[in-house]
Amino acid sequence: MIYRITLFLGAILLIGSVEMGCYYDNEEDLYNGGGDPDSCNVRDNISYMDDLVPILDTECNTCHNANDRFGNVILDTYDNLAPYVNNGKLMGVINHESGLSPMPPSSKLETCDIARFEKWINEGAADN
Ligand code: HEC
Repeated sequence: MIYRITLFLGAILLIGSVEMGCYYDNEEDLYNGGGDPDSCNVRDNISYMDDLVPILDTECNTCHNANDRFGNVILDTYDNLAPYVNNGKLMGVINHESGLSPMPPSSKLETCDIARFEKWINEGAADN
């Protein structure tokens, strides 16, 4: 009897931990753009060149370079990016604000990458 109860409790614990494992995977891996930006601990003095260009090159510039200027938008130099910083469209599209086309079109940037863009803009959006 005791053995069966122990087995039963063991099974519940096992199922419980597997369920939590799946839940965690979903939150972290499947839904980019989820999570709390405050937990990113984005550093001060974000650098356009070191922090943002790698994100832009991977996530945006396949469509927004001088040859493939989707929507007639080019983002692969600071001077081309700056107008979209100033008119608010850069943060608007990456935050998937209504009224603007969500970018990238197929997904959402990672929460911490969005936080990097936001911090850089709050710090003055320098060509640094
Ligand atoms: C798969 C191709 C593709 C990728 C990747 C992509 N875009 Fe776009 N983007 C487009 C197309 C197509 C348009 C124009 C049509 C539209 O507005 O939906 C556009 C339009 C825009 C616009 C203009 C929106 C407006 O309303 O004027 C901005 C700004 C922009 N993209 C920024 C970005 C940023 C930032 C990224 C990366 C985080 C990105 N895009 C990634 C295809 C892409």
